[in-house]
Amino acid sequence: MRELSKRTECFTDSVIRRMTRISNRYGAVNLSQGFPDFDPPREITERLSQVASEGPHQYALTWGAQNFREALARKQEHFSGMKVNPDTEIVVTCGGTEAMMAAMMSVTNPGDKVAIFSPFYENYGADTILSGATPVYIPLVPPSFSFDANLLEDAFRQGAKALILCNPSNPCGKVFTLEELQVIAELAQRYDAYVITDEVYEHIVYAPHKHIYFATLPGMRERTIECGSLSKTYSITGWRLGYVIAPPQVIDRVKKVHDFLTVGAAAPLMEAATVGLNFEDAYYNELQAHYTHMKNLFVNGLKDIGLNFVEPQGAYYVLVDISEYGYESDLKFCEDLAEKVKVGAVPGSSFFKEEVNHLIRFHFAKRDETLNQALQNLADIRKMKR
Ligand SMILES: Cc1ncc(COP(=O)(O)O)c(C=O)c1O
Repeated sequence: MRELSKRTECFTDSVIRRMTRISNRYGAVNLSQGFPDFDPPREITERLSQVASEGPHQYALTWGAQNFREALARKQEHFSGMKVNPDTEIVVTCGGTEAMMAAMMSVTNPGDKVAIFSPFYENYGADTILSGATPVYIPLVPPSFSFDANLLEDAFRQGAKALILCNPSNPCGKVFTLEELQVIAELAQRYDAYVITDEVYEHIVYAPHKHIYFATLPGMRERTIECGSLSKTYSITGWRLGYVIAPPQVIDRVKKVHDFLTVGAAAPLMEAATVGLNFEDAYYNELQAHYTHMKNLFVNGLKDIGLNFVEPQGAYYVLVDISEYGYESDLKFCEDLAEKVKVGAVPGSSFFKEEVNHLIRFHFAKRDETLNQALQNLADIRKMKR
């Protein structure tokens, strides 16, 4: 047989999904893959039941159903203060995952450089490979996960055409400050670069931190390609609904890429999820309160057990320091943790470009019972000491 594509030869099995399989094998509480174990809002699922009998069941407009885009434009304007034209500035995609891929394909040519902060969400590596771009990594240095503006400037000096900005960040829980975003904006302007933002955790931010939409910074609207998702905001990771918001000339291209990638997001799911996009502020306030509760429950439990970690400012992950356990491999640590302590985590090294193997990632978008069980199991973590 002829060989398969060279481009995808280096793809490995996702470490996160592998840890899920290992957790299942040992009956561990799985805090590796980031999805909630609680239900989406009832209003959305009830609407889905109606849609099952009423439709729509056929293709929607390839760039997204009209009422969905209109509701999304209203919601985004409400939260960011930025007017979005639903006809010319939005493409609805199959999750934030496709949004990022379509954005990358629309912006880069094979061989172009793309700047990525490290640690990073694992898909960005694959997205650059699939689009033929070359990643240039800029470290976010633990424990504060701040970055050196000179290193970022170096990436632009080397010709990076775009920066991927994940804010709030998976896996480190960082919420970029206005000052940091201003530094990025100034460099993007000076070096005429695009900023592809991943803002899927826009509504999961812990006070006093605040999410600032990058496109709202002076001069950034025209160079920002915002990738978003309904997965996290409405607890519907399986519905695969996301979007790109960008200026019309960019969206024009994204529409075409998206059309050939997937044709479109699922019409019945767009229809049902529109109910969520029309929710009042109370929904988002409750979401924040619920996530703050889960975050506090989990991190206070980690503190009581005596574990070291950096408190997340946003998103629903926490990186825990495992230096004291004497493991050389964080992967081996996670495998042993699932087997012996019965909690599933992700080795931090899968998110870092640099040699970092003293961190593991837990996610805490779980019901109280699940988090309490995980903490009860983690109370035995000392037996992992070598
Ligand atoms: C930072 C980040 N971006 C994108 C995604 C994927 O989102 P979606 O389910 O909308 O494809 C995730 C999922 O975990 C994520 O953490």
